[in-house]
Amino acid sequence: MINLIIFGITGDLAEKKLLPALFNLAKQKKLPKNLKIMGYSRRDFTQEEFTKLLQSKFKEKEMGKFVSKIEFTKDIAQPNSLYYLAIPPDTYKSVLLQIPKRGSKIMIEKPFGSSLATAKALDKFISQKFSESQIYRVDHYLGKNVIKEMERWKNGNLPAGEAGIKKKIERIEIDIWEKEKVKGRVDFYDKTGAVRDVGQNHMLALLTVLMGSLKNLRVAPGGERAQYKGYLPKNSKTETYFKIPATLGKTQVLLTGGKGLKENKTEVRVFLEGSEKPIVFKIEKGGYGQIFLAAFAGNKKLFPNREQIFDQWKFTDKALAILKQKPLRQVS
Ligand SMILES: NC(=O)c1ccc[n+]([C@@H]2O[C@H](COP(=O)([O-])OP(=O)(O)OC[C@H]3O[C@@H](n4cnc5c(N)ncnc54)[C@H](OP(=O)(O)O)[C@@H]3O)[C@@H](O)[C@H]2O)c1
Repeated sequence: MINLIIFGITGDLAEKKLLPALFNLAKQKKLPKNLKIMGYSRRDFTQEEFTKLLQSKFKEKEMGKFVSKIEFTKDIAQPNSLYYLAIPPDTYKSVLLQIPKRGSKIMIEKPFGSSLATAKALDKFISQKFSESQIYRVDHYLGKNVIKEMERWKNGNLPAGEAGIKKKIERIEIDIWEKEKVKGRVDFYDKTGAVRDVGQNHMLALLTVLMGSLKNLRVAPGGERAQYKGYLPKNSKTETYFKIPATLGKTQVLLTGGKGLKENKTEVRVFLEGSEKPIVFKIEKGGYGQIFLAAFAGNKKLFPNREQIFDQWKFTDKALAILKQKPLRQVS
């Protein structure tokens, strides 16, 4: 029996991403036969109240049936369990202290820390109790199909020097543009900003897939930050848009992203030496299904390791420090 125990099952992430992904896997008969899904809440629900609450979030009848099988639990210490921490980061420590050390696996959502120092402190705290093989740091972008496409392409097209006939990657552009403005989760977003929301994790994870390592990633001149007009809270200095140029060895990199932008565009463009037309990887929605399947199977390939997270933060800290010197443009 595998137990999946979701902390934060009553929250936004569980409703929008985790439970729909599990439901889709169930529909496709991809869930392990011996899987039991449980939900933990600080609140004292009866099973009936809990089921009603989950069902009230979904209109589809089949989905309602699916969530009615999720068991409410207050008992954290269950053997052979996979714990999904879909809770605010400042609550991780108190929960981690209660999770049994032996036989548990932990899935931790992004953001993993808010700087290199805090990521290291969180890692230190977790590693005192759990070994690396028990820790699954979630970046659902790594569960997207486009990752396999990028890997297949990369295996036939590594930068010159790493493989004989291949062409050098001259430039990589990564866009994560959302038309939607910040709606719910305003407190989270205002503390986080666009760079930490999608740059530090998703963009750098995509870059790692293509380039292997971020050790030589350096911020280049020409960065920008902006905030869309009408952003709330008023007088906030949080960026809702960023442009970060960088270099990785001889490859140029350009990261742009944010919310309240003119269009939805999530793609990676790779320019090979001598070619003006990029190879475009369109990034589709989803990703959580593959992440769950990998975690059930104990396959850590789709999860960033600690060094990768530290490299991401090392670069992000520098990029943020440089961007802070730039004016925060107001854009419509
Ligand atoms: N929402 C997203 O789109 C999204 C995307 C990527 C990553 N994440 C990450 O996923 C995690 C959860 O995000 P979310 O948006 O779902 O958050 P949320 O809706 O604010 O909270 C999730 C749940 O956590 C529990 N909780 C809240 N405060 C707590 C506390 N002090 N102690 C223990 N439990 C507490 C609550 O459940 P009970 O009241 O039932 O205990 C709440 O329903 C965060 O780490 C976030 O950064 C979210």
